[in-house]
Amino acid sequence: MTPHAPTAFGTVHRAVRANVLFLTIDNPPVNAGSHAVRRGLVAALQDAPSGLHGAVLIGSGRSFVAGSDLREFSAPLVYPELPDVIAAIEAAPFPVIAAIHGVALGGGLELALGCDHRIATPEAKLGLPEVSLGMVPGAGGTQRLPRLVGREIALEMVCGSTRISAKRALEIGLVDAVTTDDLLDAALHYLDQGAGKRRAAQLTIPQDDPQVLATLSAKIMKKGCNRPNMAEAIRLVMASNLPDVTATLADERASFQQLRLAEDASALRHLFFAERRAASVDWLSATPRPVTAVGVVGGGTMGQGIARACLAAGLTVILVERDAVSLVRALDSLRHALQARCDRGRIDAATLASQLAALTGTTELADLQDTDLVIEAVFEETSVKQPLLAQLDALLPPEVVIGTNTSYLDIDALVADLPGRSRVLGLHFFSPADVMRLLEVVRAKATNDVTLVTGLALAKTLGKQPVVARVAEGFIGNRIYSAYRRRAELLVLDGTDPQDIDAAVTRFGFAMGPFAVADLSGLDIAWAMRKRQAATRDPRARYVPIPDTLCEAGRLGRKTSAGWYDYPEGAALPSPATQEIIESARHDAGISPVAADPATIQRQLLIAMVNEAGLLLAEGVAQRASDIDVVLTNGYGFPRWIGGPLWWAAQQDACALHQDQTALARAIGPGFTPADITAALRDLARSA
Ligand code: NAI
Repeated sequence: MTPHAPTAFGTVHRAVRANVLFLTIDNPPVNAGSHAVRRGLVAALQDAPSGLHGAVLIGSGRSFVAGSDLREFSAPLVYPELPDVIAAIEAAPFPVIAAIHGVALGGGLELALGCDHRIATPEAKLGLPEVSLGMVPGAGGTQRLPRLVGREIALEMVCGSTRISAKRALEIGLVDAVTTDDLLDAALHYLDQGAGKRRAAQLTIPQDDPQVLATLSAKIMKKGCNRPNMAEAIRLVMASNLPDVTATLADERASFQQLRLAEDASALRHLFFAERRAASVDWLSATPRPVTAVGVVGGGTMGQGIARACLAAGLTVILVERDAVSLVRALDSLRHALQARCDRGRIDAATLASQLAALTGTTELADLQDTDLVIEAVFEETSVKQPLLAQLDALLPPEVVIGTNTSYLDIDALVADLPGRSRVLGLHFFSPADVMRLLEVVRAKATNDVTLVTGLALAKTLGKQPVVARVAEGFIGNRIYSAYRRRAELLVLDGTDPQDIDAAVTRFGFAMGPFAVADLSGLDIAWAMRKRQAATRDPRARYVPIPDTLCEAGRLGRKTSAGWYDYPEGAALPSPATQEIIESARHDAGISPVAADPATIQRQLLIAMVNEAGLLLAEGVAQRASDIDVVLTNGYGFPRWIGGPLWWAAQQDACALHQDQTALARAIGPGFTPADITAALRDLARSA
């Protein structure tokens, strides 16, 4: 049904039919709740004719309201603010129904909560993501939601920034009806059935158990890394049972206003926009090739993870292994993992059945003829990858895109002799590939535009965060991580204990320090790389022999129950054997050990990353400074609330950064290449 005689109030259209006011928000592409939308809503409500039976608030296009317009959040907000809009809805003498399709998120859901009733289409998604953006909901989300669904569910939704389905929203009482009918007709019908005024802010909060809430709050704080906005979100939801709702709403607003301008929210907004930018390549107009069938060559750790990611996204997968035994092992392991997901309730039985049906295996590359894209994840050796890529290029129809998951090998060299090299790109997944969001999409010299945009489109299909990189040893992420790890190892050689470095790093906000990470992933991977690089290493550069000695002693990390740490009963303990190896290396290098304090450790590790980031930008390996922050926060555990290494650097005093860079140059010695950090920061400011 379409209402007649619309009147435009900027981005809000108003129409009256059968004594019902229809307000349609029309702010493409996602109906962000901008100032113009707020002003339009207030004007349309204030201008409403008398004697109305009710009103329906709906969004045009693909969504109700995807959230407030974050671009407004770094400056003072202009009247009318969202609480003013909600006040106008609550003051209206007729009931207002929010008719929700697409998404109602953040300010969009708060707007719906300010209405008297909510109906939704089955595919609609609802949520309050403000906490993931360093803030708290600021227009009644922490006060109205608990009154409808109880404080326990509200805590989970607000603090977890979870999006829930319309079905779940109906179960918990967040929406009043879910309809498969035309949404406007359904809203009208709902009004006709006698829906009256029902302000969520006036409802009595459902009974709850204080003990359950206390346990949940403690769990949330721990999971939320004790961030100040998490504490505020918990405090505000807990206070929603207080009788004076005007006071608790004002309290929430004040908290929101203060948090949205604080460091965490600024950094997280930076990442919000940086992630969207990273997924796009402005100068490309090519159309991606549709991908529904994927071939995965190599069924080891990565191949299986990539296959799981593709299956979860509804793609069909043909897995290729080098022999029948390896194939059976890989398929068994994959099927077992899918079954385990079903047993844990992560997917339902029907999804399990369709994923199992979408998975097949072969030992013949020729069976990949009907795929749209093939990803190789075989051993990281040129002697294995190069002939394989040549075989794929010879066998596959010319339109099939070929991706390589190499971590370090030179893709340009791998494909140099291939006639079809323009359809090859790097698709560098992170382990576990079905869990980690980051995907480095590597544009080799010969990669053509269609291949590149197909890689970016695949990332979107898989729900990954793509970042475009050029070919370089370690691309963006591993190269920065290598510089960071190298600095950490030099700090150890110069006198700081590994456990003190790990402690300083976790205090900064990483989940794990570099030595705990090395033990987890296995020291032998980097060992093999160092051996490969031995011939080309700058002989003047300082070398830390400690990890080699650890490997030679069989201390390969957790898998041998000994690495940088000892693991007598699973938990990491400082190791006397490692300490001995460290002291011997210091002695051999003639070093009088001096331990660095936690602040120096943190700054030295950060400046190592920042310097490498500057080099990557200057070399054109990374397109933009903000892409580097996206890589580090999505793939390497860099704390999101600090925004990434370059955002961190942009907040520092320029002279102090210069001093840090000088100290870094001194510590690394010959072979150190200083980067122009100022240029990197200028680029960050430009793209912001
Ligand atoms: P893996 O050793 O677990 O698996 C490699 C698999 O490839 C084995 O199952 C092997 O049987 C199979 N294979 C070898 N040659 C083959 C051929 N010609 N045809 C078909 N299958 C063949 O290795 P992993 O860890 O899965 O690594 C694979 C690739 O992914 C490497 O290039 C690695 O650098 C890269 N990578 C690894 C990451 C990790 O964390 N393990 C992270 C990101 C990338």
